[in-house]
Amino acid sequence: MTRESDFLVIGSGIAGLSFALKASKFGKVTLLCKTALDEANTAFAQGGIASVTCFPDNFEKHISDTLIAGDGHCNRDAVEKVVREAPKQIEELIGWGVNFDKNTDGKFDLHREGGHCEHRILHHKDNTGFEIQQSLIRQAKANSHIEILEHHFAIDIITQHHLGKIVTHHTPNIECYGAYVLNEKTNTIHTFLSKITLLATGGIGNVYLTTTNPDISTGDGIAMAHRARAIIEDMEFVQFHPTALYNIGERPSFLITEAMRGYGAVLRTQDGKEFMQKYDSRHSLAPRDIVSRAIDNEMKIRGEYFVYLDVTHKDAEETKKHFPNIYKKCMELGIDITKDYIPVSPTEHYLCGGIKVDINARTSINRLYAAGECSCTGLHGGNRLASNSLVEAIVYADAAVNDAKNILPALQYKKNIPDWNDEGTSLNEEMILITQTFKEVEQIMSTYVGIVRSDLRLTRAMRRLEILFRETEDLFDKSVASRKICELRNVISVSYLIIKQAMQRKESLGLHYTIDYPKKN
Ligand code: FAD
Ligand code: SIN
Repeated sequence: MTRESDFLVIGSGIAGLSFALKASKFGKVTLLCKTALDEANTAFAQGGIASVTCFPDNFEKHISDTLIAGDGHCNRDAVEKVVREAPKQIEELIGWGVNFDKNTDGKFDLHREGGHCEHRILHHKDNTGFEIQQSLIRQAKANSHIEILEHHFAIDIITQHHLGKIVTHHTPNIECYGAYVLNEKTNTIHTFLSKITLLATGGIGNVYLTTTNPDISTGDGIAMAHRARAIIEDMEFVQFHPTALYNIGERPSFLITEAMRGYGAVLRTQDGKEFMQKYDSRHSLAPRDIVSRAIDNEMKIRGEYFVYLDVTHKDAEETKKHFPNIYKKCMELGIDITKDYIPVSPTEHYLCGGIKVDINARTSINRLYAAGECSCTGLHGGNRLASNSLVEAIVYADAAVNDAKNILPALQYKKNIPDWNDEGTSLNEEMILITQTFKEVEQIMSTYVGIVRSDLRLTRAMRRLEILFRETEDLFDKSVASRKICELRNVISVSYLIIKQAMQRKESLGLHYTIDYPKKN
């Protein structure tokens, strides 16, 4: 079956939903997500959303903090764009019903996080993402120009390749005509034709053994774009959040927001001693890459699996008021954060790189846009400043709509696109082949491509991944397409891109830290 819509949006996080709401003014929108609408990284965001709102903060300070965190690798135009457009986009979120906490004087209650020189994080308690996700879902459901399809898994975007042309990275004017999509409820694959497609598929956390990301984060959009020969960049910059709750077996890992360190919490080794003074003058509030490496180092020296975050010196009632969900979660595990230290360890959290986009969110493929965590705008450079990603997603989703609406009138649906080709495939009856390979990928990436890297580790990782790649492609060619096998293919592609781009970077920069090329001061 073939379906048509002006805008095909793949992803229901902040990037996909905000794009859909705005694009719906210019044409019919179909919005897909692979599980339920609210299973997205967006819904998990705790700390908040960074924006300059009042004196003594100003745009120059936010720009400077972003550039410093990015370790000299940011695209200045992207930084200027996001920082300067943030306040307007925050207004739009509020217009859609998002409720940010305010003080008794009616001003925003601003938090501070690592790398920020000012209090500038707007938040809704300690579950800002959930508040944003629910508000946008309400708006989208009430919008008659948006068709929402849950449990629809995009397998591949459609290009000239599917019309039998040879498409390479050097092919000029590759075009996107839509996507092949698996309806998981009926187990059928449909052709979704579109004039414009937006990839808003989020992060890659499940490439690693531990992550704060929900299960949906398997880098599908990046892998699809890579197969279609789009430019992918900065994949070596994988951000590990310093303070995920250490609770063996829990997946995703529960985050202890950085705002807690902004509020005054300090890191301690298991013997109760502070250690961040050894690593950075900003102590526990240094940018994430520095704090994660410091914790990693302390854990390795001491042979321990976690450090502590201590907030016990703060007023108990204030702590409960600011961090009600963290308080509740820890209490369930028998940790009273107003009295007990919280065990934490670094965990995969965010990918700074992704599908390269320009200032209008255009990818290198015509008619294909990308926004949110799957994209690489250049804002984050080598290391994302905390709470800069939600804001990047709405600013670039907005840019994509503004650009796409101008080209839309001249575009047609592509004719003669063949149905998905599943000739020669049969049902794969050995799930173990998929689940075990998935585990092997996670193991390889966590062991060899984590916080600290080396040429030897990366080479080992690549060799091992190559075997899994060949076996999985072989299995994929023979199997009826299922979400699980497609996700496995995608995590292998994403892992390959991370390792390859990490091998190419012969320096330590931002989140890419290698013992073979130490940073020169
Ligand atoms: P997501 O919100 O992840 O949405 C991805 C969507 O794509 C989902 O709907 C999924 O179903 C869909 N999808 C994926 N693949 C397919 C496919 N093949 N077919 C169909 N659909 C597909 N950032 C901040 O700025 N501030 C914070 O405080 C903050 N806290 C965070 C806390 C946690 C625990 C986590 C995990 C992240 C946090 N982040 C924070 C990062 C931020 O939440 C994400 O970067 C952002 O929400 C990504 O939004 P997105 O729209 O790009 O993707
Ligand atoms: C956090 O609350 O610490 C997460 C913020 C972010 O990832 O931007």
